[in-house]
Amino acid sequence: MPYRVESARVISGEIEPPGDKSISHRAAILGALAHGTTCVGNFLHGEDTEATIDCLHSLGVDIRVEDPAPGSRGYGLTIRGKGREGFREPERVLDVRNSGTTMRVMSGVLASLPFFSVLTGDDSLVHRPMRRVIDPLQHMGAEIHGRDEDQYPPLVIKGSKLRGIEYAPAVKSAQVKTAVLLAGLGAKGRTVVSQATATRDHTERMLQAMGADISVNGTSVSIGPGPLTGIRIEVPGDVSSAAPWLVLAAVHPQARIRLAKVGVNPGRTGILTVLRSMGGNITLEERSSAGAEPVADITVESSGLTATCIQGEIIPNVIDEIPLIALAATQAEGRTEIRDAGELRVKESDRIATTVGELQKLGADIEELPEGMVINGPTQLKGALCDGHGDHRLAMTVGIAGLLAFGETLVEGHECVAVSYPGFWEDLESLRSG
Ligand code: S3P
Repeated sequence: MPYRVESARVISGEIEPPGDKSISHRAAILGALAHGTTCVGNFLHGEDTEATIDCLHSLGVDIRVEDPAPGSRGYGLTIRGKGREGFREPERVLDVRNSGTTMRVMSGVLASLPFFSVLTGDDSLVHRPMRRVIDPLQHMGAEIHGRDEDQYPPLVIKGSKLRGIEYAPAVKSAQVKTAVLLAGLGAKGRTVVSQATATRDHTERMLQAMGADISVNGTSVSIGPGPLTGIRIEVPGDVSSAAPWLVLAAVHPQARIRLAKVGVNPGRTGILTVLRSMGGNITLEERSSAGAEPVADITVESSGLTATCIQGEIIPNVIDEIPLIALAATQAEGRTEIRDAGELRVKESDRIATTVGELQKLGADIEELPEGMVINGPTQLKGALCDGHGDHRLAMTVGIAGLLAFGETLVEGHECVAVSYPGFWEDLESLRSG
């Protein structure tokens, strides 16, 4: 049954977004690679991060999932890591479902472990590009292959001895950087990843906190082999899950939303920069940081937005928020252009085609570009029958659009939000006040 959203006259309330997806994946994987106990608080209770836990269980890692504390939205995890020796050959194919992060990052871990493994995923993931991790890992000496000349999953890995490399990735991807750095942990010699543009640095921060031999120089990261030590990690709220509410309050004429305990790592706050450049009325109150990651409470209120142009270096920082930025642009005065965002075509859906198609159904003036889109605003959206395309970020964007549109919006496949935000629809209804 599609989910039904009606427009809301007034929007107000407070939300604590669920734990950060990127940091949760890394906490589980690095905790498994470390020696000693890693305790993780507020671990994201989402389908992608559960895929990572299941994968680590199948590899023999001792991970205990605790019941959520009263009032908390995330799990506690206790990982009793035994280093790389704590992993054993899985008896079955590792099915990581919809999670590209699990597949790419785990391929870097598995490449140097002395056994055979196969990674696969759901209908969306088996069509997502994997050569971006296969190429550098093969260059390090890994025996790793994928379907269709190493382009796609399933991936087959026979762990081998790796050597450190100097690598300049062609794609701006934190997943690729992380895969190569984790392979470097188990390689002979140093591994250096030199990126053309900065990407989210959660891996580097966590590796540093766990005692890795890692140094960061601008957009270049160097790592040597060596052990990690278990630590305590409190996962901050996911700024990408705060983003639907940031956009909603900024464009809605009568809105005020407070977002509590949100991670504000500068590699992830491009959405705040973009909304502010459009005239967004957003204030931050810093909180004490959650270990290696800065945290803040964010308040956003109705703001008359104007159009913007986003391209170049900011794109990796807002890559998961572009469908929502496009929605904001439909309500902003003028012509917004989004360029250099070809990566969107190979996310959980082709997010250029799906964002443009769904917003057009709602009456938006939006056109596709090969690597982006152009939006003219403002437009009064009208309710329609929309589709989430099995893509959590798209389903959430359409849900927010439904609160702004005249009449009724139906969201087909709304359940896919559980990939990163299982309580999304309940939170959406909780903001309706009038
Ligand atoms: C992620 C990095 C981004 C992002 C994804 C999570 C990560 O992908 O889109 O949702 O956790 O490293 P890329 O690194 O492939 O751009």
